[in-house]
Order: sequence, then structure tokens, then C-alpha cells
Amino acid sequence: MTNFPSRTETARLDDGDSLAGCRAAFRLPDGILYFDGNSLGALSEAVVERLGRVVEEEWGRDLIRSWNAHDWMGLPGRVGDRIAPLIGAQPGEVVVTDSTSINLFKVLAAALALRPGRRYILSDEANFPTDLYMAEGLARLVGTEVELRLVAAEAIPAALGSDVAVVMASHVDYQSGRIRDLAGITEAAHATGALTVWDLSHSVGVLPIDLNGAGVDLAVGCTYKFLNAGPGAPAFLYVAERLQGEIENPLSGWMGDTAPFEFQTSYRPAPGLARMLSGTPPIMSMVALDAALDVFQGIDLEAVRAKAVRLTSLFVELVEARLGGAGLVLASPREATARGAQISFRHDEGYPIMQALIARGVIGDFRAPDILRFGFAPLYLRFVDVWDAVEVLAEIMDQDFWDDPRYRRRLAVT
Ligand SMILES: Cc1ncc(COP(=O)(O)O)c(C=O)c1O
Repeated sequence: MTNFPSRTETARLDDGDSLAGCRAAFRLPDGILYFDGNSLGALSEAVVERLGRVVEEEWGRDLIRSWNAHDWMGLPGRVGDRIAPLIGAQPGEVVVTDSTSINLFKVLAAALALRPGRRYILSDEANFPTDLYMAEGLARLVGTEVELRLVAAEAIPAALGSDVAVVMASHVDYQSGRIRDLAGITEAAHATGALTVWDLSHSVGVLPIDLNGAGVDLAVGCTYKFLNAGPGAPAFLYVAERLQGEIENPLSGWMGDTAPFEFQTSYRPAPGLARMLSGTPPIMSMVALDAALDVFQGIDLEAVRAKAVRLTSLFVELVEARLGGAGLVLASPREATARGAQISFRHDEGYPIMQALIARGVIGDFRAPDILRFGFAPLYLRFVDVWDAVEVLAEIMDQDFWDDPRYRRRLAVT
């Protein structure tokens, strides 16, 4: 073991961390080292306080009057405007609504309608399954003239042509954590007349993103990961301002109508992005997201990114120094600038190893067939947590603690 930093040396990194103070904004249970903020972000104090107040006062006391009195109706746009600066968008270009899956369906259908006569939705074969499934379902619905075409992510630019309507890609790959070239792929797509749909689920909140700067057309993303809005919180949807006049929502529900409370028989799309809404917003989750965004107020995303690079680098360094021969193979880019706030290792026994880690309070997750996935949320993870987690992993591997029937039992969520 060469140059293996001690726990004390590692703890000193936290003393010099400009983001260290953000941790106090979160409720983190004792005895848990949380490496799954890329899947379900931690609960913040602001969310606890706000939800309590909304339940008691807005729902409990003011009841239905709150739609007006507390402007519940305005939440999708208001909260969207708070996400906008995190992704390089302007006010009025982001709404919070539905799930990422549903929003993908909506923006893909809208993109196809804007590029009639073009056959393909082009995507990365390793894209997140729901992205592919939604595109498949849409293609089935539209009929024989539209198809989902899958290639390796690196082959997307070469696969572009006048028959591609829309390129759909994830900014950060959910398995490897690799960052895709958002600006480059967008530029290549535009050069052939195609539109772009980006899934920002694994980059929002941990990477500086510049959708406007890159000329991105459409985007979606989860809020329950690094934005910490809570399980099943609604997703966001971005439409570049220049497209908002022509875009159509295939799920034309009453909340996207120009005047829902006129109860007209036929749908009239609302001006601007409001037309991308469909049904009644989930107010509790919306306010949880609104409150969860407080922690990002005044935060420099470059500093968040820099810390994520250092956390992930430390983890790789420690795992390889401490566990060099244990069969863990790095599945994320070795170059820190090429990966998001996530590290994945492959191991044939990845599932029981992760279960053994979780049983000892180190929480990451497992992605079939063999990936142990660790997320590094810079706002609440400490450098010393990384050191402690590697110690636990080393113990599990050194003593084969993972090799236990208890840890092989497959749970519904891995
Ligand atoms: C890249 C990506 N897109 C979408 C989703 C999920 O979308 P939904 O919230 O609709 O389940 C995930 C969930 O982990 C994801 O990683």
C-alpha cells in the first residue's frame, strides 16, 4: 500500500472544505455513510419544516383556498424558475411536472411533431431503460413511420443524418457515471437538422450545466436524486424559449390549457411553457422540492463540481490502494473530469457485496448485472466518510463477509 492517507489526514480535507457547512442543512441518520444521493437524495431540514407547515396550515387550515391564497397553481413554473439557474436556462424555460418518464414521452412526441417526415429517434443503447422504453412506446403508438434507433453513445454523431428527428441522450450515464458531450452532440445534431432531448437526472445539482449556451432544445430530469426533493418527487422539463410557441403537448390535459377554469370542451394550449403541464400538480412533493432547493441558494456549482471530483478521486485511490487484488474493476472513467459525482465498480459478486455494505451502514446501490454504484453528493458527504466506507469495504472483502446467503436474497429494489 503506497501513499495510503491516514484517517486523520483525510479528515483534514474536510477542515479545508468550503462546502462543509452545507451538511448541517441535512438530517442524516447516525451510523450511516450515505453513498446513494445519486438515487435518492437526503432529507433537508428545510423540507421537514416546510412540509409540516404546508400540511398544517395550507392544506389543514386553508383547505382548497390554498390554490389561490398560497398560489399552488403557480408552483410548477415558480419552482421551475428556481431550477433554471442550475441548468443554464432562463426563467420561463423550466416547469416542474409529472415524472421524468412522462416528460420524456411529452418532449419526444413534441420533437417528432416538429420534424415531420424524419424516421428516427436516435439514442444510446446504454441509456437508462425508462428513456428507451418511453421512446419505444411512443414509436409503437405513432406507427410504422417512426423508429427508435440505438447505437453506442460514441457513435451518435456518426449515426446522424437527414432521417433523424431527435437525439435523446443522458448527460451522465447512470451506470458508469461517464459525462456525455452535451454541447458537441447538440451541435452535431443541429448540423443535420435534428433536435435534442437531454436527460439531466444524474448531472443536475452536481455539474455546472449550460443548456442555453449549448443551444439544447429540450431536456428533462429527476429532482429526487441530487436535488433532494424526496421519493417520487416530480421531474422538471425544459423547452428552449425559441421553441415554446410551436411546441405541442401530446398529453393535453386541462392544466396545460390556456384557462383551465373556463372548462371549455376543446383544448387550447396555454401560451409559453405552461402548455407542457397535463394534470393537477402533486403539491406536497412540489413544496418539498421548493424547500430542498433552498440549500442551493448562493452555492457555486463549480465548487460543488470540484468537490465531487476530489471525493470520487479519493474513493478510487483508496479502494485501489487498500483493495487492489479484490476483484473490483473500475467501471467509471479513470479520468475524474470525464465522470459525474458517481463511481461504479464491477464485481461478479456485486450484489451480495453491496448488501453486506448496506448491512454495515454503508449505503450505495447495485445495478445489474454486476455494478456496485456509489454516489458522492458534495453538499453532505465528507472526505472522512469516504475513508470510513473504504475501511468497511476492505473488511467485507478481506474476510469474505459478503459470502452469506442473507446477502444473496434479491430485493425488489437493488
Ligand atoms: C437517467 C434516468 N432517467 C429517468 C429515471 C427515472 O425516471 P422516473 O422518475 O420517471 O422513474 C432515472 C431513475 O433513476 C434515471 O436514472
